[in-house]
Amino acid sequence: MYLTIEDKRISYSIKKAGSNKAIIFLHGSGGTSNTWKNQVNLDIGYDIISFDLPSHGKSSEYLELSLDLYIEVLNHLIRSLNYEEVVLCGHSLGGAIIQSYYYLYPKRIKALILIGTGGRLRVSPVILDSLKSDYHEFLKALPNGAFNISTSADIINDYVKETSTVRPNVTFKDFSICDTFDTLEKTSSINIPCLIIVGKSDKLTPIKYSEFFHNKIENSDLHIIDDAGHMVMLEKPVEVNNKIKSFFTNRL
Ligand code: COA
Repeated sequence: MYLTIEDKRISYSIKKAGSNKAIIFLHGSGGTSNTWKNQVNLDIGYDIISFDLPSHGKSSEYLELSLDLYIEVLNHLIRSLNYEEVVLCGHSLGGAIIQSYYYLYPKRIKALILIGTGGRLRVSPVILDSLKSDYHEFLKALPNGAFNISTSADIINDYVKETSTVRPNVTFKDFSICDTFDTLEKTSSINIPCLIIVGKSDKLTPIKYSEFFHNKIENSDLHIIDDAGHMVMLEKPVEVNNKIKSFFTNRL
């Protein structure tokens, strides 16, 4: 399905549960909605929505990408779908977008799910340089940087293939947006239920970032998942889905 915004189209999918509640999933830097392929069939009584950010996946190309644009697109989606209750789930850059959205419109959101993300997301210059100069090098380093050592080659290869469909300058822009993202001072103002999930061996957003969330957000649950890295929802889908289900049952 597509959401039309002026002359652009944003690709999204909905799996209906027949309720007036929805959870919206946002992917990370250089990703697509396919990142959530193991979550789209979650049975939690909420419509399950995932979408491709501008210039990613099947969404239209935009000339300029920014955090503001991503927030604006999310806002269009939320307003056009008009649900009574919305839960946002974001991974990495997607986590930065949903935090920012919450700070702008706290009353519109019922709960946040923060997966492999942080309130500040500084990016190593090595990553930014390789994205600028040699995308092939970046893709080659991705398995080691984003996955746990024991994760199967099939899962890793699928993800690398997905990222290779995103243009290098788009992924570079995503990481640049992360690099300047810093809302650590606002984290303690989050006062809706939050589920925080991180892979134990996450190198891109170390567990310290999630522990920070948990310490600052009063109404939060933290789960550190064994044998998983930054792409925890692809690496350990059953565990992640069980945590999400329990959160919906116990907290919402
Ligand atoms: N939550 C809690 N603490 C955080 C944080 C977060 N989201 N982000 C940074 N910090 C902490 C750091 O742990 C560090 O604490 P310390 O001084 O006690 O060690 C401090 O804030 C400063 O860290 P940072 O802002 O990251 O600057 P830096 O110059 O120390 O490091 C990098 C810069 C890029 C080397 C580092 O951020 C890094 O290794 N990042 C992870 C790899 C990466 O590129 N990830 C991509 C994210 S999308």
